[in-house]
Amino acid sequence: MNRRFILFLIGMVGTFTLNAQTNIINTGNDGKSWNIVTRSAVYQLNINKQGNVQMVFFGNKNQIETFGNGLGAEVPVRGGQVSAIPIIEVVFPDGVRDIELEYKTSEITSLDGYPALKIIQNDKFYSLEVSSFIRVLPEFDMIEKWIEVVNTGKKGSIKIENLLSGSVFLPKDVYELTHYSGVWGHEFTPQTTKLTQGTKTLQVKDFKSYGSSSFIIRPEGENEKYTGKVWFGSLSYSGNWRLDFEKFFNGNVQITGGINFWDQEVNLKPQQKFSSPPLLFGYTEQGSEGVTMRLASYVKEKLLPESHRNQLRPVLYNSWYATTFDVNEEHQLALAKVAKELGVEMFVIDDGWFRGRINDKAGLGDWTVDKNKFPNGLKPMIEKINAMGLDFGIWIEPEMVNPNSDLYRSHPDWAFHFSNRQRNGGRGGQLMLNLAREDVYQYLYNCFHNLLKENNIKFIKWDMNKALTDPGFISAPADEQRAVRIKYVENLYRLVETLRKEFPDVWFENCSSGGGRIDLAMLSRFDFNWVSDNTDPVDRIFIQDSYLTLFPANTMISWITQEDWHRQDPSLEFKFDVSMAGVLGVGYDITKWNGEQKKIATEKIAKYKAIRETVQKGDVYRIVSPYEENRSVLQYVDKNKRKAVIFAYNLAEYPANQVKETQQTPLVKLRGLLPEVKYNIEGIRETFSGRYLMEIGINLPLRGAFKSEIYVIQAVG
Ligand code: DGJ
Repeated sequence: MNRRFILFLIGMVGTFTLNAQTNIINTGNDGKSWNIVTRSAVYQLNINKQGNVQMVFFGNKNQIETFGNGLGAEVPVRGGQVSAIPIIEVVFPDGVRDIELEYKTSEITSLDGYPALKIIQNDKFYSLEVSSFIRVLPEFDMIEKWIEVVNTGKKGSIKIENLLSGSVFLPKDVYELTHYSGVWGHEFTPQTTKLTQGTKTLQVKDFKSYGSSSFIIRPEGENEKYTGKVWFGSLSYSGNWRLDFEKFFNGNVQITGGINFWDQEVNLKPQQKFSSPPLLFGYTEQGSEGVTMRLASYVKEKLLPESHRNQLRPVLYNSWYATTFDVNEEHQLALAKVAKELGVEMFVIDDGWFRGRINDKAGLGDWTVDKNKFPNGLKPMIEKINAMGLDFGIWIEPEMVNPNSDLYRSHPDWAFHFSNRQRNGGRGGQLMLNLAREDVYQYLYNCFHNLLKENNIKFIKWDMNKALTDPGFISAPADEQRAVRIKYVENLYRLVETLRKEFPDVWFENCSSGGGRIDLAMLSRFDFNWVSDNTDPVDRIFIQDSYLTLFPANTMISWITQEDWHRQDPSLEFKFDVSMAGVLGVGYDITKWNGEQKKIATEKIAKYKAIRETVQKGDVYRIVSPYEENRSVLQYVDKNKRKAVIFAYNLAEYPANQVKETQQTPLVKLRGLLPEVKYNIEGIRETFSGRYLMEIGINLPLRGAFKSEIYVIQAVG
C-alpha cells in the first residue's frame, strides 16, 4: 500500500466516521464533507481551507481513494479567476459583476419523498444567497442538481445574466460524447464525438429542437453495450436550453447544463428567488444498456403523470394522414366505424375541426367547432363515436394564432412581436402567442377548459408547429421583458397542469411538428409523445432505436400510415410490426381499405393487445441497433421476466455482419431472462433455457429485406 493511500485511509477514519443519517447522504464528522451514495456511484463534496465548496468526485462508489482535492467549485461563478464554466453570472445593483461565495450552512432534507442535500452559500458582501441542491433518486440510481438564488437585500435588483442548473467535473481521461440531434422528420440522430480541449456546446435558442438534451459520456473506445463506464444526463426543460462540455488542458472535463440565457435576463427584486430546472445525472458501469434502464424506469415509474402512469395506453386512430384539414362529420364517423371493427380504442380527430380551418392559413386561435364541417357541433358526433364503443380525442395547437382568425383581429398585440419590426410567420403564416402574458394565459385556459367541459373528450393531442421568432414583450415593465421566454415556459406548464388537474381522466399527447419538444419536463406533464412526422417504417426503425435509448416505449406513439418516403412500398405487416414497438396507432384512410387490408390490421391489432402489457410496461433491450447492422432487434421483457417479446426487422437481403458461410445473421443473444427457467418461443419448436438464450443465442428465422417478425417468448410451467 503506498504512503499516500495509507494517509488517505487515516484521514478517512478521522473525517468519515459517518454521522448516522440517511446512508444515502452522509456528512463527515467535521461537517465539511459529504458522500452521496447511489447504487452504483458516489458523489463527493467538501469545503476547502478557503471556505469554498468543492466537487471532489463522481463515479464508481468503490473508488473512494479518489477522495482528495476538489476537481472544481460545486457552484462555479463569474468572479475571481474564472477557470471553469460559470453557472451563475450576475450584476449587482451597483454594477459589480463579480461573485465571491462562501459556505454558510447545509441541510439534509427530503424533497418530494427523496433525500436531498442543500448547501447554502452567500456572497461575502452582497445580498445574494445561493442554494445548490442534489436530490437522490435511489431506486433509479441517479441524482438531480439545481440551483436556487435569492436576493436577500432590501433594495435594488440583482440582474441574473446566466443561471444554469449544475456543474459536474469528470476526472482526467479521454472521453467521447454521444448526443442526439436532428431535424424535422429525422429526430434523435445519435452523434458521437471525442471531447478535445475546448468547449463543445449544444444549444437551442428556440422552444423547439428535434434532438434531445440527454447526453452520454464514455471513456474513448468503451462502447460495449452491457458493460463499461458511462456518465449520462438529461435536462428537465422545454424552452431554450444549453449543455456545455469543457475539456481542460489537465484532462478533466466539466459538464454544465440548464436554461440557455442567450438574449435573456432575470431581474431579481428584493426577497425574490429564482430556481433553475433540474439537471439529471447518472453513472453506471453497465454500458449504454445501463443508461436506458435507468432513464426509462425513472420516466415510467416516477415521472409520468400519475393519473395514467400505470394504465395501458389505448390503440389509437388519428385522422391526420387520412383527411388533413378536410374533416367532416360523415367521413369521420365512417372512419370511426371501421376503426372500431379493426380493434381501435381511441378515435382522434387531428387538425381541421375548428372555425375557419380550411387550410393551414386560417383558424388557429378560434377554438370552437367549425359549423360548416360539423353542423351539429362536436357533441352529437362524439356521442355516436362513444356509442360505437370508442373514446374520442381531438387536436389543438394552443400556443399559436393565424393572422386570419377572430382572435388575431381582436388582439394583434397578443402575438409575439417587436415594435417597428416585421412579424415572422411560420407554417401558413402562423404566429406564436405570447403566453408569458396573463391575458393570453387566461384566454387559452378558458378555451380549453370549456372544450373539455362541454364535450366528452378523453384525449388531447397538443401540437406546436412554429419556431420562436420576435419574442418581444413590450407590454411588460422594461426590466421584465427579457425574462419572456422563462415566463412563457412557466405558463405553458401551468396551463397543462391546470387542465390535467381539472380533467384527470384525459390523456395528453405531446407533439411539436413530430418530436420537436420532447424532454423530461414535458414527460412529467404529458402521457406520451408524437415522435416524428416521418412514419416511413424504415426511417422509424432508426428514430425509434434512438428514442428507446432515452425514453420508455409506453411514451412512443407510432402510427402506420400510407407515407412511403423511400418508395419501397413496404408491406402493411412490416409497418404494423414497426409501430407495435410503441403505442400503436392507425393513420390510413381506412374507409378505402379492402378486405385483405382489414384482415391484416384486425389480426395485428389483436396481436398487439396480446403483447401490449409487455411492450408498454416491460424493460426494453436494444439487442441489435440499426446503426450497427442492416437490421434491428428489440427485446421487451416483463418485470417478472417470464414473458418477453422480440421485434426483428431486416433492412437488407443480407444484413451486414452475417456469417459468410451460411449467409445467416449472427445468433441473437437475448437479455434480461431467468437463466434457470425454460422458455418457449412462439413459432420455434424447441424449448430453451434462459441461460442458453442469453449465452448462446438463437438464430431468428427471418429472411429478406424489409421483412419483420414478432416472437413471443414465454416461460414454461
Ligand atoms: C404537425 C403534427 O406533427 C402532425 O402530426 C399533425 O398533427 C399536423 N401538425 C396537423 O397540423
